[in-house]
Amino acid sequence: MRFLGAPLGIFSKMATCILLLELLALACSVAFASDHSPLQDFCVAEPNSPALVNGLVCKDPKLVQADDFFFSGLQLSGNTSNPVGSKVTLFDVAKISGLNTLGVSMARVDYAPWGVNPPHYHPRASQMLTVLEGTLEVGFVTSNPENRLITKVLQKGDVFVYPVNLIHFERNVGYGNAVAIAALNSQNPGVITIANAVFGSTPDISSDILVKAFQLDKNVINYIQSQF
Ligand SMILES: *[C@@H]1O[C@H](CO)[C@@H](O)[C@H](O)[C@H]1NC(C)=O
Repeated sequence: MRFLGAPLGIFSKMATCILLLELLALACSVAFASDHSPLQDFCVAEPNSPALVNGLVCKDPKLVQADDFFFSGLQLSGNTSNPVGSKVTLFDVAKISGLNTLGVSMARVDYAPWGVNPPHYHPRASQMLTVLEGTLEVGFVTSNPENRLITKVLQKGDVFVYPVNLIHFERNVGYGNAVAIAALNSQNPGVITIANAVFGSTPDISSDILVKAFQLDKNVINYIQSQF
């Protein structure tokens, strides 16, 4: 009995440890899931500072102006004359220095008829997409192994949520142009467009790797790589 009891005790301690580790990991992922909270009213970015920090160095608060919190141009439509037929205009900390440390940004997305905002994800932000004009087919895919596609057709005024790090896309399925506004919970959400990252990296990922990964002929892989 003692012989059985000892290992079982160890197993239950290990199970407790694993549970604690998982809770810790959960707590960490909650703490670092989005940008850190500010420690002061604002920290307007000082882009010319030589110091490198996580985020951007603050400008002297006495020198801060209204224009540091301002950007004009959301009414201007983006140029969708490109192969995908869509254009994202991002208003992040690079455009509005007052966004530094505040954990928000937004984007305007324009879509030509049948234009696509191709599958991509944001490493640092969840997203709320609001349709201002037109009709959009939207969707995101859950992680492995389910890879479930969650999709919907949105009309003007509809809002859809993309959870952080999940691949998502939009397509204009209406007759005219479409416009959407995206809100993101990072000053610098980042974007990884799947096709560009996989087929357009510098230098190229070896086509032998992509042949196996995508179960495609090498000529097809070389062709796709030539498109990015
Ligand atoms: C839109 O982009 C296309 C392709 O780059 C370019 O030829 C065209 O002049 C642009 N249109 C405007 C209004 O800027």
